[in-house]
Amino acid sequence: MQLIPRLKQSSLQQKFQWVAKPVEYMNSAAKHSPDMFLADIAPQGSYIFVNHPEGMRQMITSDRSSFFAGSKDNQILKPIVGENSLLLIEGDRHKKRRKLLLPPFHGERMQSYGKLICDLTHNIVSRLKPNQSFVARQISQTISLQVIFEAVYGLQDGERSQALQGHINKLTNIFESTLTSAFLFFPLLQKDLGAWSPWGNLIRQRQAIDEGIYQELADRRQENNSDRSDILSLMMSAKDEEGEGLQDIELRDELMTLMFAGHETTATAIAWSLYWVHRQPEIRTKLRAEIASLGTDPEPMEIAQLPYLDAVCKETLRIYPVGMLTFPREVQKPLELIGYKLEPGQIVMGCIYLLHQREDVYPEPNKFKPERFLTQEFSPYEFFPFGGGKRRCIGEALAKLEMKLVLATIIANYDLELLEDKPESPARRGVTLAPKTGVKMIFKGKI
Ligand code: HEM
Repeated sequence: MQLIPRLKQSSLQQKFQWVAKPVEYMNSAAKHSPDMFLADIAPQGSYIFVNHPEGMRQMITSDRSSFFAGSKDNQILKPIVGENSLLLIEGDRHKKRRKLLLPPFHGERMQSYGKLICDLTHNIVSRLKPNQSFVARQISQTISLQVIFEAVYGLQDGERSQALQGHINKLTNIFESTLTSAFLFFPLLQKDLGAWSPWGNLIRQRQAIDEGIYQELADRRQENNSDRSDILSLMMSAKDEEGEGLQDIELRDELMTLMFAGHETTATAIAWSLYWVHRQPEIRTKLRAEIASLGTDPEPMEIAQLPYLDAVCKETLRIYPVGMLTFPREVQKPLELIGYKLEPGQIVMGCIYLLHQREDVYPEPNKFKPERFLTQEFSPYEFFPFGGGKRRCIGEALAKLEMKLVLATIIANYDLELLEDKPESPARRGVTLAPKTGVKMIFKGKI
């Protein structure tokens, strides 16, 4: 059994590079050690990054006595989602909460969101004027936030909904730059130096969001409408074996979790997809032809079944996965993982980005080639954009549907162009990987 390789850079260099240039950090680490390495990036020490499909499989499918999908290493997200969030609870409490949250995110339930997604996309894109420039990620964020509001909150477009969306946008945009993303990673920077300081701004936006959420909870309790089928209503009426429901603070934390995990990620994925299909216009032509083959006014669910569209979305999530890492798993006993020795207490993370960059799985990994998903089947541990096992993404079906329908609606109905010739590069946005400029585009008009 071998020891897990350490990188040559000092611990301080690694921490800074991981925050400021995560892609460069991962690429250079993989050159040194392609399957697994010790990443000295956490304040409390090292994480083990696993970049190998078999290592990923064992880590995800082994039982709790080998790897524990705990939560203490997700604390970085606490200032946003709160300590009662699904991301920050573990063991039986986590299992029970997942059971409660999963059903509304299942395939059949998604069908009711199809039309909503297409309508919202038309609504938002058709507001652009000919030759107007815009940032694709802003447009996709507006769409994905509204989708999440409808699905999770069941909130119609009212004053409270608009105010909440405004504060959420302001809060998430704090992490637009690498510099402000650093505030999440270095607790010493988390100081309220007034409304203009990044952390002060975060606290104020968070307070405003909390007020909106608590008002909504109080109104719902008074209204007592049992016909509602949104996720919030489901969470409010759920009871455990002792007949206890979720407290308001737990409901608040879960709403924040679903809103943030749900809209930031999907918005980024959609922006990347728009970038790639306009960067390689032959892909857009093929997509248009595929969508046109369904005739006029196809059903959203027919669109979602299109194979080339599916391949384009998969390749988008492969080349720059929005989530670079899985959540942490803690080693429970002495183990061997693909020939390397693991000790109890060590923290292992699947490195989705490096897994997706493996030349032996994806030849020419830096090229955007949707066809690879039409000619080859990849195992669930080779293509891993939504993680797996106990903490697998609960929003996967919604995210995939949204990506496909927003992209197809735009491609089939509107002409857009990239504003700049130079390639877009991936950069940190909070804990995710996003296009550095957000993808600047020009709206040419309706087709
Ligand atoms: C393209 C969009 C998305 C991507 C790439 C993505 C990716 C991921 C990944 C990699 C994980 C970690 C899985 C693991 O550790 O094994 C995760 C977890 C999670 N995702 Fe997503 N996600 C997306 C959209 C969504 C949406 C739309 C929602 C909800 C509305 C959502 C809610 C969550 C939650 C709550 C977890 C934590 C699950 C747990 O701790 O049990 N995500 N996601």
